[in-house]
Amino acid sequence: MRPLLRLALATAPLLLAACGLFYTDMEDWACPPEGTQLTYENFGAAFMNAHCQSCHGSTATDRAGAPGEFIFDTHSQIQRHRARIFARSAAENDSMPPGPDDPTLDDRMKLADWLACGAP
Ligand code: HEC
Repeated sequence: MRPLLRLALATAPLLLAACGLFYTDMEDWACPPEGTQLTYENFGAAFMNAHCQSCHGSTATDRAGAPGEFIFDTHSQIQRHRARIFARSAAENDSMPPGPDDPTLDDRMKLADWLACGAP
């Protein structure tokens, strides 16, 4: 195989992943059979405040380009957008936040369960 083609094939998955074309959908993540103990009060609000609201909050002073319809101030706003929040931030989806202070993988796994169980 020609070296350039080989290189292109080897890097394609990395590039696609970096572009966010490969990610896990909320639909493909099962809420555990026993449900979840995680709630907006004991997990969701703190997670979103710590990792998202600096850009996505309605009072953010520098949204850094975060779209105006994606505001996560309230429980119902988060529930409404939960499929997109999942796609960007839950489980191994890590395109949000843009970094460098990422949540731990453990916290992203909790986010995945919480959202997949309906973000109670
Ligand atoms: C440093 C600023 C910043 C932080 C922090 C941040 N975002 Fe974003 N967000 C953006 C920008 C800029 C865009 C628009 C560009 C894009 O979509 O990549 C965006 C877009 C989005 C969108 C809408 C696009 C889509 O895919 O539907 C969602 C949902 C989102 N972010 C979720 C989150 C979540 C969840 C967090 C926290 C875990 C977060 N963001 C943290 C800057 C930020």
